[in-house]
Amino acid sequence: MMRITKPSIFYGVLLLVFTIISCKENKKESQSEMETAKTESTQNPIEETIFGEMPDGTKVKKFTLKNEAGMEVDVITYGGIITRWTAPDSNGAYEDIVLGFDDLNQYLEGNPYFGALIGRYGNRIANGKFSLDGETYTLAKNDGDNHLHGGEKGFDKVVWDGVAKTTEEGAAVELTYTSEDGEEGYPGKLDVKVTYTLTDDNALDIQYEAVTDKPTVVNLTQHSYFNLSGQLSEPVLDHKIYLNADTYLPVDGGLIPTGEFREVAGTPFNFKEPKPIGEEIEAENEQLSLGGGYDHCWVLNNGEEDFRLAASAHHGETGRLLEVYTNEPGIQFYSGNFLDGTLPSKTGGTYVKRSGFCLETQHYPDSPNQADFPSVRLNPGETYSSRTMYKLSTK
Ligand code: BGC
Repeated sequence: MMRITKPSIFYGVLLLVFTIISCKENKKESQSEMETAKTESTQNPIEETIFGEMPDGTKVKKFTLKNEAGMEVDVITYGGIITRWTAPDSNGAYEDIVLGFDDLNQYLEGNPYFGALIGRYGNRIANGKFSLDGETYTLAKNDGDNHLHGGEKGFDKVVWDGVAKTTEEGAAVELTYTSEDGEEGYPGKLDVKVTYTLTDDNALDIQYEAVTDKPTVVNLTQHSYFNLSGQLSEPVLDHKIYLNADTYLPVDGGLIPTGEFREVAGTPFNFKEPKPIGEEIEAENEQLSLGGGYDHCWVLNNGEEDFRLAASAHHGETGRLLEVYTNEPGIQFYSGNFLDGTLPSKTGGTYVKRSGFCLETQHYPDSPNQADFPSVRLNPGETYSSRTMYKLSTK
């Protein structure tokens, strides 16, 4: 039989106390480890890497924004381009849903504004001319007789400064660019800031701001081509589009609005109820033939708030639903009619006709020349401010 002596009781108690204390410590440690991991993940660290180099040696950075749900958005400082955006389908499988490339050189070789920030003026200005305070400004005619998306070297082709930000709303990247007075023919030095924030509820919130030192015109937008199927080389004709608009702007042969606000009711331009892109795209219709499909600006209905649901797109097979919210008066719905299968897709194959669609929030095309359209003028002392949110879910 074991004899229990006083010293052994003493050592036993000591051991017990020690074990209890060290257990508590361990627990504290692992708790604090958990806390660190949690802080890190709620802060959603942003990865910053080099995407490539410009011909003059300027480095192009890539920021990978991540959220708690597992979504990832890659933004590069060249053109503020979104090069990759992963979204879950109804089974939780993540796939890339935007057209683009993995390599900077492919962007430099030329492409139809894949994923880019567009400025100073998104969309067209007739004959590359407009007047402000009696002075006429001449811009590049880089789309037939007209000026398109900011000119020969718009904001989609410049290298922005990029800074990663962890905010309460989510991982963010702040891009800034100074467009000098006279750049691409526009008056005034324009300081532009665009912030992309990825929230935990799978929304990419885009805030645009600009200030000028002379009266000028501004209309900024984002030119992502979406294909919610994740099969980026497949046509998007099966996606159902909803547009919160009773009227749209018919265009002339150069895709410049005629000035008319036309009712969508009873025409292929009616997306007040979700409808597949392909349902009426080949219908006999003068406006569809001018655009080679949909390539028009819809006049958004006003909601109770300025920032309202403008559009949505739904892909039935994967369940992916994209909703677009904005405080802008218009949205250009472009069904990728000019994609022609010459550019290679990230997922194999090529970007064939209508393998992506754009929902570009904006003021109306050619506003500087159309007195009845909401003004796009920016004066010194004012701040241009525009917000658009692309939100993904499944249904
Ligand atoms: C325009 C199209 C144009 C495309 C550029 C869109 O915003 O509406 O007409 O072809 O950008 O590829």
